[in-house]
Amino acid sequence: MALRAILSVLLLAHLSVTTPTPKHKKEKPAAFFLAGDSTTAVQSAGGGGWGNGFLATLQPPAYGVNKGHNGATTVSFVKGGDWATVLNLVKNATDAYNVFVTIQFGHNDQKPANNVSIAQFKTNLASLASDVQELGATPLLFTSLSRRNFNGAQLIQDLGDVVNATREVAAASHIKLIDLNAASRTYVQAIGSAEADKYNLVAGDRTHLNAHGSDVFGRIVADLILKSDKSLSRWIGRNATLSHLIAEGVYA
Ligand SMILES: *[C@@H]1O[C@H](CO)[C@@H](O)[C@H](O)[C@H]1NC(C)=O
Ligand SMILES: *[C@@H]1O[C@H](CO)[C@@H](O)[C@H](O)[C@H]1NC(C)=O
Ligand SMILES: *[C@@H]1O[C@H](CO)[C@@H](O)[C@H](O)[C@H]1NC(C)=O
Ligand SMILES: *[C@@H]1O[C@H](CO)[C@@H](O)[C@H](O)[C@H]1NC(C)=O
Repeated sequence: MALRAILSVLLLAHLSVTTPTPKHKKEKPAAFFLAGDSTTAVQSAGGGGWGNGFLATLQPPAYGVNKGHNGATTVSFVKGGDWATVLNLVKNATDAYNVFVTIQFGHNDQKPANNVSIAQFKTNLASLASDVQELGATPLLFTSLSRRNFNGAQLIQDLGDVVNATREVAAASHIKLIDLNAASRTYVQAIGSAEADKYNLVAGDRTHLNAHGSDVFGRIVADLILKSDKSLSRWIGRNATLSHLIAEGVYA
């Protein structure tokens, strides 16, 4: 009898610690807010990136907002108020959504005229990521989308300084890295210059993407994010045909 009493007390104690907690973070639909420059931004006369192509893969009620800003650096994005807008989106969404903020800069930060040193770039990236974490959301640090300039048959790597810096920040601060630079370089190198030019926003613009390019590079982003977090497969749709072409290095 005494033993029974002890056992039932133990059982109750066990039950009380294993009582199911309210909705687990990973059961909430995902929300993605995209911070970055024109290589993330909505297609327009002055820019256009992978952002909208990626957002098109989301399965409702998962959703996202593309806040990519043409010409932005890690300095101007904050000074100009875009970052405050992103943080407000995050604050408003964390109750109901599992929130992610993609952070992709570098194309403009690396231009000497913008006066952002690599040391400053790294400090700024770490600070953006930490702002996101403080709100209970997940930052994803992206290396810069490759430009599509070739020297003969060889794709030119002209983003190495900011790409290396981004990788270093992610590693040092334990922030999830989405290595878009590596993935986009592999694909662009595989298809070659002539095919890569078909994604240009306008002829000769080998930085920005047209709407089809946004879908293809948005697919690359979706696949990288799915690979890094399998629990998101409910919220990010797949396109096996497109993923296969990209993986095979065939123009899609
Ligand atoms: C805030 O969140 C609610 C509920 O998810 C949504 O309907 C509304 O559009 C959001 N407002 C802003 C400004 O994001
Ligand atoms: C460049 O930035 C540094 C600090 O980030 C500042 O001290 C300096 O005045 C700036 N120079 C110009 C020309 O804007
Ligand atoms: C970036 O890092 C790679 C590998 O560590 C190195 O080979 C390359 O020279 C670096 N690029 C720049 C621009 O620092
Ligand atoms: C999947 O990708 C292929 C190849 O780009 C495209 O033709 C097709 O429309 C896509 N399917 C969906 C559902 O987006």
